[in-house]
Amino acid sequence: MTDDRHRIRTTASYEAEPSEVGRVLLLYSGGLDTSVMLKWIQEAYDAEVVALTVNLGQPGEDFEVVRGKALNLGAVDCQVVDAREEFARDFVLPAIKANALYGGGYPLFTALGRPLIAKLAVDYARRTGCDTIAHGCTGKGNDQVRIEATIATLAPELKVIAPVRGWQMGRDEEIEYARKHGIPVKGGTEIAPYSIDDNLWGRSSEGRWIEDLAHAPDDDVFQLVTPPERAPDAPQVVQISFRQGVPVALDGEQLSLVELLRQVAEIGASHGVGIVDHIEDRIVGLKVRDIYEVPAAAVIMPAHAELEKLVGTIHQNQFKPGLERQWAYLVYAGLWWEPLRADLDAFMDRVNEQVTGTIGMKLYKGSARVVTRESPNAVYDQSLASFGESGGLFSQQASPGFIELWSLQSRMAYRLRAQLDEPGDELDPRAKS
Ligand code: ARG
Repeated sequence: MTDDRHRIRTTASYEAEPSEVGRVLLLYSGGLDTSVMLKWIQEAYDAEVVALTVNLGQPGEDFEVVRGKALNLGAVDCQVVDAREEFARDFVLPAIKANALYGGGYPLFTALGRPLIAKLAVDYARRTGCDTIAHGCTGKGNDQVRIEATIATLAPELKVIAPVRGWQMGRDEEIEYARKHGIPVKGGTEIAPYSIDDNLWGRSSEGRWIEDLAHAPDDDVFQLVTPPERAPDAPQVVQISFRQGVPVALDGEQLSLVELLRQVAEIGASHGVGIVDHIEDRIVGLKVRDIYEVPAAAVIMPAHAELEKLVGTIHQNQFKPGLERQWAYLVYAGLWWEPLRADLDAFMDRVNEQVTGTIGMKLYKGSARVVTRESPNAVYDQSLASFGESGGLFSQQASPGFIELWSLQSRMAYRLRAQLDEPGDELDPRAKS
């Protein structure tokens, strides 16, 4: 590993020089890249590798198999951490309270997962005496930003290596390296697989035809959500209950947050709900197309937003979306630990103290639509809203006086403009020519 292409160069202060690397904590998924890394780090750095695999609710993953694979490839240890509860409570829940969508469509599941994964890497690196953390991100994505910003923030004493970003192995070379080192390569190698990332809040696919913007989605990309045309003909209404912004019950049954998210995802997916075909502005400059499957978010977020709208005043409802956009952008951009995010959370929590009630969502062939609303805190009075009625807090006789004053400045300004626009007026620049 001494030929020029594999020479290790560093740019940032937190990147490890080869001489600094003795024991490496590797964030290990069990996929090809991190498996090749597991071997390559032992060779290139002559270092010990401790593997860490984080369970964030990736559907269908067998973590015992992943662990066995790491040990087979020479890891001195492989820890599997079940972080589902912490992820749901401390990362997904704040996103729900902030109605967080980046670019109008991406519920941030990956962006929410990375700071937790990196935080756990810091904890385990310290606990197992590692000096360096290794991750499998490429140099083209947002995930490297999220992971390295987290490590540099939480653990200035630890160093980072990102071999996939540094080595210049193409895919074929990686597969050849894998073969040579007895690393099992899943599936056929003729077609590259999609690049997948998933957890209990969603699933993303990138690569292959997805990069061709003119190519409509092939059905084989959807491994979670049933394509809407194949969804059941009968609609289903689900009741989502919230207490202070927290989803607490599904169809009247109290559930833990992790279990509720799992069940809603399953029902939503069966009705074709939560497919997002998204063009995204990455932090590192590129635009990218992602295919997202987000059945839980596509049901829970509109329900939450609807309930919040019902209990909020016109002023609260006008103000919050600007802060939501800022929240989503910070989190997307890898700055989870930025103090502004915590400041914004304090605001979101305060608003959500009122967000208690139940929303009925009708799921049908790809759509999720609000159909019923119920809340003890609704700023709503059916008798006042009903057509033609007057009385109580609302007097229709007061309306004309309100309209006269409400429109006063707008009327004055309108008239001034109309005068300026009249031809022949010397204040009109057009009149000078
Ligand atoms: N584009 C999304 C984001 O930046 C999803 C990234 C998925 N990550 C991955 N390594 N496949 O958050």
